[in-house]
Amino acid sequence: MGCPLEHRVLIERTRANIAAAYLELARPVPGVHVVRDQQPLVVMGPGQPSFANFLMEFDDAEALVRAEAALRTIEVPSTIWAFHTDADRAPDLSGQLREHGFRRMSRLLCMVAEPEATSSESDFTWEPATRPADRDTVAAFMVRQFFGNTDRQAQAGIQLGTSKSVHSLYATPSVSRMTGGVMIVRSEGMGGLYCLCVHPDHQGKGLGGQIVRAVRREVHPDPVMLQCDATLERWYQALGFRTFGHVDAYCRDR
Ligand SMILES: CC(C)(COP(=O)(O)OP(=O)(O)OC[C@H]1O[C@@H](n2cnc3c(N)ncnc32)[C@H](O)[C@@H]1OP(=O)(O)O)[C@@H](O)C(=O)NCCC(=O)NCCS
Repeated sequence: MGCPLEHRVLIERTRANIAAAYLELARPVPGVHVVRDQQPLVVMGPGQPSFANFLMEFDDAEALVRAEAALRTIEVPSTIWAFHTDADRAPDLSGQLREHGFRRMSRLLCMVAEPEATSSESDFTWEPATRPADRDTVAAFMVRQFFGNTDRQAQAGIQLGTSKSVHSLYATPSVSRMTGGVMIVRSEGMGGLYCLCVHPDHQGKGLGGQIVRAVRREVHPDPVMLQCDATLERWYQALGFRTFGHVDAYCRDR
């Protein structure tokens, strides 16, 4: 197994990976503007989805004030999001966010698996989706698994952003017979695992675990990080991941 990364490096690479993930998912969505491309990052879109409309990377006491100043230069959607990660250095950022009218909506765990050289599994195949039509098929599958109950406009935005993003999309066993999928986000020294999903008819047969191991092989020798709900912590632990931090999502309505 590879050496564990020093904590500060790990949380910084994680934040960079999440920022890259959201930024590149947001870019293709119509009406999205990268208002600030440096700390703090300000990306604003039509209001849906949350990854197309967010603030993140707050590293000093004035960061949130600078974000607010940037927001005053544009027409702001009715709901905006702020993502607070362990790499943020702004003092008492949770308190600052509350003072600025944000409320915490969710907390996800950040987990990492150190690189491990493992051989491929003979009963597992996946197909990278590269053609636009294939990417759209995979994105539509992911949206159905994760956002089946979200309104149609948000679903369309998520599908478009996912399909047209620069991130790698995979379908298992193939795009045409897809029963599971995953998105991989590459950033310096880190592979991010996002949107892992298995069709409900095929869950509980080991497919999700096979996809996770395939992602670890794919990004080797980089480590793999992911964000997940606490209910999945033990499952990911059994697959070689450890928890090292959190990402909190905050939201403010006009
Ligand atoms: C999580 C998921 C990918 C697992 O895929 P899978 O093919 O069923 O996984 P495996 O067969 O390898 O492992 C099954 C085990 O996963 C665990 N598990 C799956 N979903 C879980 C959940 N929501 N909470 C807790 N444990 C869960 C269970 O321990 C299960 O064991 P069981 O079969 O004894 O009940 C799949 O349930 C899924 O697509 N869920 C919806 C999307 C999602 O939450 N993705 C994770 C994003 S971080």
